[in-house]
Amino acid sequence: MKFVKAMLAVGLGAAIAASAMTSVQAKELTIGFSQIGAESEWRTANTNDVKAAAERHGVNLKFSDAQQKQENQIKAIRTFIAQKVDLIGFVPIVATGWDNILREAKRAKIPVLVMDRDLTVSDPNLYVAKIGTDSVTEGKKAFNWIDEYCTKNNIKPRNGGDKINIVILEGTVGSSAATGRGTGFNEALAASPNKDKYNILASQTGDFTRQKGQEVMESFLKNYRNDIDVLFAHNDDMALGAIQSIEAAGLKPAKDIVIVSVDAVKGIFQAMIEGKANATIECNPLQGELFFETAKKIVNGEAVPKSVFVEEGVFPAETAKEVFPTRKY
Ligand code: AHR
Repeated sequence: MKFVKAMLAVGLGAAIAASAMTSVQAKELTIGFSQIGAESEWRTANTNDVKAAAERHGVNLKFSDAQQKQENQIKAIRTFIAQKVDLIGFVPIVATGWDNILREAKRAKIPVLVMDRDLTVSDPNLYVAKIGTDSVTEGKKAFNWIDEYCTKNNIKPRNGGDKINIVILEGTVGSSAATGRGTGFNEALAASPNKDKYNILASQTGDFTRQKGQEVMESFLKNYRNDIDVLFAHNDDMALGAIQSIEAAGLKPAKDIVIVSVDAVKGIFQAMIEGKANATIECNPLQGELFFETAKKIVNGEAVPKSVFVEEGVFPAETAKEVFPTRKY
């Protein structure tokens, strides 16, 4: 009996040691991650995905929420440097202003992996790689969808004029997601054989939030209630806010005003199913898996591509009901 107990004790001890070893090994990689905040349904999905992927990869994740402030991101990165993490990940809220802090990380020999948005730095070696989305392509897809839809459905200006009037709700000023989508949209418009059919009536930031989307659309409608034919919103949340203002103004979203936005979150699918939005251009927030796979390679000294884009589709309202049950965010 004593022998059995002893064996059990040894077995248990070995199991505990093994599990302790696993957890030591699993927690070996410490990654500091600075997220922008929680401005949209998309961002929440992105944060949840990063946290879940960190769990799966057995990474010790130090997560910091910057509450929409670049200064908070800089502070968080500085803290990660002081904590001597193995790698720093961050989503740049705006494209510029990162040189100094990234130099500090470089001096501390901590690799930096950028997620989601792009940044502009004086030396591209200040970060190792970026994984995320291609906002210029998203903007191009948005205009091309609008152009095709208006042509196919013979959309006429509501005010009886000769131009289809577009209003734009832009994302956060200075963010690559906003500038990229704006650039892509304008490039596709300039390249269209129908370019003379369109007029950009107004374009203003709604900061990627539902509330500002609603407020800015309300002011567009005050000035141009009977002139607006198309709304392009840089994200679904702003489109969802705008839909409330359109209805409050006594107009029918997706009928009086064609609505196209970016993200493909569940909220806009619901709106499409209800007939209140026309299409969404996907911006995929599920980047966690790729992020940690890439992070591990970087820490192990393997070469990784400078830029990797996640896959993104286009979803018109007609597909919404069928696609909705398959959506993960
Ligand atoms: O950077 C991605 C953008 O940021 C998403 O389109 C938007 O919803 C988010 O806030």
